[in-house]
Amino acid sequence: GPGGGLGPEAEADPALLRASSPELARRLRGLALVRGGFVSEGEAAELLREVEPGLCRGRYQSDHWDRAIPGYRETERGLRGGAGRALLLRVTPAFPPRRPPRPSAHVLDLLPEGRVGPHLDSVKFCGCTIAGVSLLSPSVLRLRSLQDPQDWLELLLKPGSLYVLRGAARYEFTHEILPDEESFFGGLRVPRGRRVALIFRNDPPGENPLKPPRN
Ligand code: OGA
Ligand code: MN
Repeated sequence: GPGGGLGPEAEADPALLRASSPELARRLRGLALVRGGFVSEGEAAELLREVEPGLCRGRYQSDHWDRAIPGYRETERGLRGGAGRALLLRVTPAFPPRRPPRPSAHVLDLLPEGRVGPHLDSVKFCGCTIAGVSLLSPSVLRLRSLQDPQDWLELLLKPGSLYVLRGAARYEFTHEILPDEESFFGGLRVPRGRRVALIFRNDPPGENPLKPPRN
């Protein structure tokens, strides 16, 4: 599609990205990426069928050890179905060749009233790249600079879209999923429904990149 690959040269879809300044947009170019229509409606339905059985067993929880996420269920699971395996292959080019995504995806199921509060993913457990596929409801992902909180970037995550955070966008900015009452993309209201995200991460440096997968 437009913009080609998913490597550091990749361009975000400009209609899906807002920045506090053109300088900030330039600085995070290739580091915070969003692509609409990454998975088709058919693939999305198949992915949901694959991951929902694992989610049913979990209840919606309201706290978490390192993130402020009210109203969610989550699971970490290997994607063994056809659609899941195909998706893993398709997100792999977003990762450095020697630091591929872990074969298991983090499945986060957010209620309409749920949010993911601003946080950094643990540097102990996650590497340089985060790639997320959003299903069901649209939402807004906001990045905010740790150093200059007036510097922000917002990504409009439509159902079927992919986002990638790496480098400075992953280490120097918090990220959050806005709660329904704050869910705007500029002047556009983005009403939140139930949202399921499939999030892929790699291992942090220092881990043996060739070690066998954990599950
Ligand atoms: C997380 C997170 C974002 C998303 O769970 O660490 O940032 O896309 N989730 O749901
Ligand atoms: Mn996160």
